[in-house]
Amino acid sequence: MSGASSSTVILTFYVACTFGLTSLTIAQIPRENSITDPSEVGALNSIFEQWNVKANTQQWNISGDPCSGAAIDSTSFDDSAFNPFIKCDCSFNNGSLCHITHLKVTALDVSGPIPEELWTLSFPSNLNLAENYLTGSISPSIGNLTRLQYLILAINALSGEIPKEFGRLTELIVLTFGTNNFSGPLPSELGNLSKLKQLYIDSSGVSGEIPSTFANLQNLTIFWASDIELTGRIPDFIGNWSMLTALRLHGNSFDSPIPSTFSNLVSLTELRLGEISEAASSLEFIQNMKSLSVLVLRNSNISDSIPSNMDQFRHLEQLDLSFNNLHGQIPESLLSMTSLSTLFLGNNKLSGTLPQQKSTSLRTIDLSYNNLTGNLPSWVNEQNLQLQVGIPNGTTSRTKGGDDWRWQQSRRWQQSFFL
Ligand SMILES: *[C@@H]1O[C@H](CO)[C@@H](O)[C@H](O)[C@H]1NC(C)=O
Ligand SMILES: *[C@@H]1O[C@H](CO)[C@@H](O)[C@H](O)[C@H]1NC(C)=O
Ligand SMILES: *[C@@H]1O[C@H](CO)[C@@H](O)[C@H](O)[C@H]1NC(C)=O
Ligand SMILES: *[C@@H]1O[C@H](CO)[C@@H](O)[C@H](O)[C@H]1NC(C)=O
Ligand SMILES: *[C@@H]1O[C@H](CO)[C@@H](O)[C@H](O)[C@H]1NC(C)=O
Ligand SMILES: *[C@@H]1O[C@H](CO)[C@@H](O)[C@H](O)[C@H]1NC(C)=O
Ligand SMILES: *[C@@H]1O[C@H](CO)[C@@H](O)[C@H](O)[C@H]1NC(C)=O
Ligand SMILES: *[C@@H]1O[C@H](CO)[C@@H](O)[C@H](O)[C@H]1NC(C)=O
Ligand SMILES: *[C@@H]1O[C@H](CO)[C@@H](O)[C@H](O)[C@H]1NC(C)=O
Ligand SMILES: *[C@@H]1O[C@H](CO)[C@@H](O)[C@H](O)[C@H]1NC(C)=O
Repeated sequence: MSGASSSTVILTFYVACTFGLTSLTIAQIPRENSITDPSEVGALNSIFEQWNVKANTQQWNISGDPCSGAAIDSTSFDDSAFNPFIKCDCSFNNGSLCHITHLKVTALDVSGPIPEELWTLSFPSNLNLAENYLTGSISPSIGNLTRLQYLILAINALSGEIPKEFGRLTELIVLTFGTNNFSGPLPSELGNLSKLKQLYIDSSGVSGEIPSTFANLQNLTIFWASDIELTGRIPDFIGNWSMLTALRLHGNSFDSPIPSTFSNLVSLTELRLGEISEAASSLEFIQNMKSLSVLVLRNSNISDSIPSNMDQFRHLEQLDLSFNNLHGQIPESLLSMTSLSTLFLGNNKLSGTLPQQKSTSLRTIDLSYNNLTGNLPSWVNEQNLQLQVGIPNGTTSRTKGGDDWRWQQSRRWQQSFFL
C-alpha cells in the first residue's frame, strides 16, 4: 500500500469522525450462563485463521468463548489498544445467548480476500476492516448484514464492482470504501441508504455518474468523492443536502458548472471542488457559507473577481482559488484576515498591486502567474513566510522560502517587482 503516512491521517480522521456516533449502548447483562452463538464462534475462528490474526487473550478470548472479557465489559469499541476486537450483546434468549455485534481488524497487515464466513455473522452493527491489504471482490452476501450501521472498508485493495446489495444495508450511518481498487459504477441502490450521515468513496476506483437516487441521501453531513472517475453533471440535488459540513468532489471529470443550488449548503466548514470545466462559474454561490474553514476551488473555470467581503468568512483558514480566471484586484481585507493561514491564488488574471497590510497569521502565499504589478510591500520580508510571486507569461518568478530569496528566470527578465 502506498502513502502510508497519508493513510494514517485519513484513518485518524475516520476514527475522529465516527467517534461520538458509536457510543455503545449494549446492555451489560452478567453472563454467567450465556454462550456465544456457536455458528458465530466457528465463523470468527475461521476468519481469524485465514487472516492469521489472533486475539490478545488478556483482553478477550478467541480460543474459548469469544464473548468474554473486554468484549462484554464497558471497554469502548473505539479504544485503539483493542485490535483485533469484538463486542457482543448477550441479552438474547433471556440472557443465555450472545451475538457478535462489532468486529474490528484494522491496520494489521491482513491480506487476501474477505472470507465468505464474515457474511454469515448476521448481527454486526459495526464492522471496521480499514487499512489492510484485503483483495478480491465483495460478496453480494454483504447485503445479509442488515443491522450494519458502521461499515469501514477504506484503505485496502478491494476490487470488482460495488455490489448492489449494499442497498439492503438501510441502517447504515457511516459507509467508507475509499482508497480501494473497485471498478464500475456506483449502484443506484446506494440511494436507499437514507440514514447515511457519512459517505466516503474517494479514490475508490468507481466511475460514472452520481446516481439520481442519491437525491435521497438528505442526512449526509460528510461526502468525500474526490479522485475518482465521476462524470456527467454535478447533481443539483447535492444542494439539497442541507446538513453537509464537508464536501469533496475534486479530481473528477464533471462536465457541468458548479450548481447554483450549492448556495444552500450554508453549514459547510470544508468545501473542495476542482477540475470542473464547461460553462464559467462565478463565486456567488459561496456568499452564505460563512462557516467555511477550508475552501478549495481549483481549476474550476471560475470567472469572477474575489469578493471584497471575504473577511466575513471569519473561520477561513485555507483558501485555494488557483487555476481559474479570477480578475480584478486582491482585496485589502483578504490579506488582513486573522484566521487565514494559507492562500493560493496562482494562475489567474489578478491585476493591480499587492495589499500593503498582511495579517501575521498568513504564512503561506502563492500569487504566481498573475498580472500583478508594482513594488513588493514591506511584509514580504517577514520571517517564516512562504511566498511565491510570479509574473505573467512566465518571464520571471520570485520565490521566498524563509529568508532565502531565489530568482527564477525563464525567457526574459522582466523586473516588475523591486525589493
Ligand atoms: C480466556 O480463556 C482462558 C482459558 O479458558 C482463561 O484463562 C482466560 O481468563 C480467558 N480470558 C478472558 C479475557 O476471559
Ligand atoms: C429469565 O431469567 C430469569 C433469571 O435468570 C428467570 O428468573 C426467568 O424465569 C427467565 N425467564 C424466562 C422467560 O425464561
Ligand atoms: C445471504 O442470504 C442469502 C439469502 O437468504 C443466502 O442465500 C446466502 O447464503 C447468505 N449468505 C451467507 C454468506 O450466509
Ligand atoms: C487494480 O485492478 C486492476 C484491474 O481492474 C489491476 O490491473 C490492478 O493491478 C489493480 N491494482 C492494485 C493496486 O491492486
Ligand atoms: C432500492 O433501490 C432500488 C434502485 O434504486 C429500487 O428499485 C428499490 O425499490 C429500492 N429498495 C427499497 C427496499 O427501497
Ligand atoms: C435524518 O436526520 C433527522 C435528524 O437527525 C432524523 O430525525 C431523521 O430520522 C433522519 N432521517 C433518516 C431517513 O434517517
Ligand atoms: C430539493 O428538495 C425539495 C424538497 O424536498 C424538492 O422539492 C426539490 O425538487 C429538490 N431539488 C432537487 C434539485 O432535487
Ligand atoms: C470555461 O467557460 C467558458 C465560458 O462558458 C468556456 O467557453 C470555456 O470553454 C471553459 N473552459 C474550459 C477549459 O472548459
Ligand atoms: C495586465 O494588466 C495590464 C494593466 O495593468 C493590462 O493592460 C493587461 O491587459 C493585463 N494583461 C492580462 C493578460 O490580463
Ligand atoms: C508578456 O510580457 C511582455 C513584456 O511585458 C508583454 O509585452 C507581452 O504582452 C506579455 N504577453 C502576454 C501573453 O501577456
